[in-house]
This record gives sequence, structure tokens and C-alpha cells, in this order.
Amino acid sequence: MIFIAGATGFVGRHLLRGLKAGGYRARCLVRSEEGVRFCHELGFEACRGDITDRKSLEGKLEGTRIVIHLVGIIRERDKGGFDKVHVEGTGNLVDEAKASGTERFFFQSALGADPGSPFKYLRTKAQAEEIVKRSGIPYTIFRPSLIIGPGDGFTENVKELLRLGPVVPVPGDGEARFQPLFIDDWVRCILEVLDNEAFENRVIEIGGPEHLTYNQMLKTIMKEMGMSKPILHVPPAVTKAGLPFVGILRSIGRRFGVKMPDVSSEQIDLLQTDNITDPDAVERLFGFRPAGFEEAIRKALGDQPDKT
Ligand SMILES: NC(=O)c1ccc[n+]([C@@H]2O[C@H](COP(=O)([O-])OP(=O)(O)OC[C@H]3O[C@@H](n4cnc5c(N)ncnc54)[C@H](OP(=O)(O)O)[C@@H]3O)[C@@H](O)[C@H]2O)c1
Repeated sequence: MIFIAGATGFVGRHLLRGLKAGGYRARCLVRSEEGVRFCHELGFEACRGDITDRKSLEGKLEGTRIVIHLVGIIRERDKGGFDKVHVEGTGNLVDEAKASGTERFFFQSALGADPGSPFKYLRTKAQAEEIVKRSGIPYTIFRPSLIIGPGDGFTENVKELLRLGPVVPVPGDGEARFQPLFIDDWVRCILEVLDNEAFENRVIEIGGPEHLTYNQMLKTIMKEMGMSKPILHVPPAVTKAGLPFVGILRSIGRRFGVKMPDVSSEQIDLLQTDNITDPDAVERLFGFRPAGFEEAIRKALGDQPDKT
């Protein structure tokens, strides 16, 4: 039996479908009744809990052998910041895993995780990695670049951005490089590591087969959406200064059914920074060639996210 935290998110939902197809049994930690329903409909167990609340995890891992920890946030919110969710939350889950005799711990970190990173998202991911490594439980840590597929946050935000006006505002020069990985390929990789001792106690950087700039990704998405708009490069400081107004516009837009992308100041800075690894990483480690960005984005745009 596999215990999954973060099963209701973009990555988790796709993982559940992969696990179902593979005949796995799983118990998912969820925070809402909707999450319970989603897991039950796929034939998995669900239990209510929050990784930032140690007591809510007690006994929930009993009878499970493998933990998959996918919980993460990209923006700090009122209820929990990076320290609370990434560091404290991972500590709670690791403590409960130790108490329950977990045999294998999988943690989803992020490419660029580094205790010395200028970004809190990446610093706290590195701190969480350390907690997992020190747990004494055999672990595998994935550090993916962007993951693309139906319902992914990146494509959803870009879609909203592209629909907003006659030009596409891009903070900075848009030349930072990313290495998008198709979600089905990520699922294939994790299914490969779960019971494979060769991947024990390893930190694995993965990404798709191409290094692409933000500008290139935007152009591909526009092409696949059948639109062409000029890109307007805006200094990051100007974009950040406008964020409070974006917040106001978002709430007005919601009333009229107009969606606007939700980004933080740190995300704007992350867009200026390369987030890449070896383009052959998946082929070298897992023996198959992952889908390119064009194919991934076509599938992301073509299939509606399953929000049942
Ligand atoms: N997507 C990417 O491109 C990408 C790239 C690199 C790394 N990652 C990492 O991959 C993981 C999954 O990403 P994602 O895109 O699937 O994120 P996501 O869609 O935002 O999903 C996050 C999941 O975590 C759950 N969660 C958040 N706070 C929680 C808490 N305090 N206790 C219990 N559950 C909590 C959410 O539950 P609710 O449904 O209740 O909100 C949801 O199931 C994250 O760790 C992320 O940092 C993602």
C-alpha cells in the first residue's frame, strides 16, 4: 500500500491515474471532502489531514509501505508559508513515516533546490530534502523542472495571460531557459523508482528533452492556441510594482468571469533564472525519450483537467 500526500494536485491527479492503471493500492491524504470523493471515485482510500498539523497525521500511515510526498506550494499564502509547508510539513510527515515503519520515502523537490538559493521556494525545498535524507528511511528525491500536462499551473497561467490583451507582457527579456517535462513521462519515471533499489538514496534531476526559453515556450503555446500576439518585455521591477493592482483586478475580474494569472514577486524572479539539467537525463536514467514541449503542450491544451 502506498501513502500519498498531495494526491489532489496537478501531479498527484495524474499519478493516481497511473497507479490505477498499474493496479496499485494507495491511501491519499486530503484536505477536503471533494478530495475524498476524487480518490474514492478512482478506487483509492482517502484520509483527512494536513502535513502542517502533526496530530492530523497520527496513525494515518499504518499499513502503508511507501510514502510519496508531493505537497508543495509555489506562493506563500496567509495560511502557510514555505517554512511551514515545505520544512515543518515535511518534518511532520517524515516523523510519522518513521513511527509507522515506512520502507521507502519519495519526495518531490524541484530543480534548483539549494540551501544557498536566493529563492525561498528553492531554499525550503533544499531544507526539506535534508530532512528526508536524514530520516534513515531509504529515499528517492526527484528534482524536476517545469512539468506540463492537462491542468498544470504554468500552462493555465499562460493561457490566461494570452487571453488578456493585444500584447503579451513578459517580465524581463524572457531568455531564461527551462526544461519542460510531460506529466505522463514524469509518472512513468516515478513508477520506475518506487520499488527499484537502484534508485534508493538518490537525488535525481529530471526534465524534458529540450532547453527552451520562456519566449520560445510562449510562442509554441500561442501557435498551438492558434493565436499570434506581440511579446512586450517589461522590466521585472515594473511588473512587481504592478502586482498589488493585479490583485485588485483579479478580484474584479472574478466577478465578471475573467481569469487573470496569479503570480508572486518571487515567481517573477524565478522566470529570470535558468532552470535546466542534462537534456538526456530521462533517457539516461530511465531508458526512454520523453515527449518534447510541442507534444506536451498540445496534450495540455487539448485535454481538460479532470476536476471530478
Ligand atoms: N508542477 C510543476 O511544474 C512542478 C515542478 C517542479 C516541482 N514541483 C513540485 O511537485 C509537487 C506537486 O506539484 P503540483 O503542480 O501538483 O502542485 P499543486 O497542483 O499545487 O498540488 C499541491 C498538492 O499539495 C496539497 N497540499 C498543499 N498544502 C498542503 C498541506 N498543508 N497539507 C496537505 N496537503 C497539502 C494540495 O492539496 P489541496 O488539493 O487540498 O490544495 C495538492 O494536493 C510540489 O511539491 C511542487 O513543488 C512541481
